[in-house]
Amino acid sequence: MSEHAPVTIDVHLNNQDPAAIREEIRAGLLETPRRLPTRYFYDDRGSELFEQICELPTYYPTRTEHALLKTVADDVVARTGAEELVELGSGAATKTRTLLDAMARTKQLKFYVPFDVSEGIVRRVAHELVAEYEGLQVHGVVGDFLAHLEHIPQGGKRLVGILGGTIGNLRPESAAELLSSIEREMASGDFLLVGVQLITDTDRLEAAYNDSVGLTAAFNKNMLRVLKSVIGVDFDLDAFDHVARFNSAEHRIEMRLRSVREQVIPIPDLELTLHLKEGEEILTEISTKYTRALAEAPLMQAGFTPVAWYTDPDHLHGLALARKP
Ligand code: SAH
Ligand code: AVI
Repeated sequence: MSEHAPVTIDVHLNNQDPAAIREEIRAGLLETPRRLPTRYFYDDRGSELFEQICELPTYYPTRTEHALLKTVADDVVARTGAEELVELGSGAATKTRTLLDAMARTKQLKFYVPFDVSEGIVRRVAHELVAEYEGLQVHGVVGDFLAHLEHIPQGGKRLVGILGGTIGNLRPESAAELLSSIEREMASGDFLLVGVQLITDTDRLEAAYNDSVGLTAAFNKNMLRVLKSVIGVDFDLDAFDHVARFNSAEHRIEMRLRSVREQVIPIPDLELTLHLKEGEEILTEISTKYTRALAEAPLMQAGFTPVAWYTDPDHLHGLALARKP
């Protein structure tokens, strides 16, 4: 399909200042403990690996949220009256179809705005969806939702969604910043739907991030491959092990890459030589788990009014619906 209406795709990633990107990575690597920005998981291969993770029996969040959305989508659409869905971190937009179907049933569906850092998947989803939904316009935005939210196209009555627990991949201060900037972009009376993974037992949580076929390990190490194109380093992927543990004090899974041996890695682009001791770990992702109160507090702090809370029968996943007053 050619790229005329009903599909528009804007790409904003190339507008980022390379010096600022390098400085962010450098600062993270020099922090104690060392860390790397989570968004670097998601090139085309990372997005594909995440889609495969979602199919794993141990990775319960995706299917739980999908089942939950099937039961509540009509209620969400009835409460919001939305004619446009803006989805941040839209990925493969598999569960999104449940919301789009509900909007289509009420004949309200007009626009879908997938917003993701992973360009290939935004393009794929845009073309899939205009073929699936008659009359739908898709305006994809390829960008960082922590930097490019002002590029969300102006629209009608909107529902903004962040599904899957993606908000939990942000540190509390970044999540708060994201919610405030979403609020600024929304009109009074627009709605926000946030999917959060709930606190449950440690065994279930750790099993979801330590699958026996090694997909999560491959996803974790993919960040090192992606970083080659960003900072020019050829990391030895075999020199790192995948580690995922539940930090109960912070109620979050923490994923790390652990150096299996001592390594000295020159990174000329960062004017840095990285010295890693054997067993030293680099934090690559946090995945925060919530209660209803933990999910709604930052929404209220950002100026939203919670209007509904949905959860599955096993209380593994929550969907918080909030309104901009
Ligand atoms: N919403 C989907 C995908 C979740 S995976 C689901 O629930 O299954 C997280 C998605 O967020 C990925 O597609 C990733 O590319 C995107 N993402 C991660 N960090 C991002 C950022 N800073 N800006 C924009 N998108 C981001
Ligand atoms: C996208 N995000 C909500 C996933 C999560 O569960 O935190 C990413 C993921 N990391 C490892 N497995 C899945």
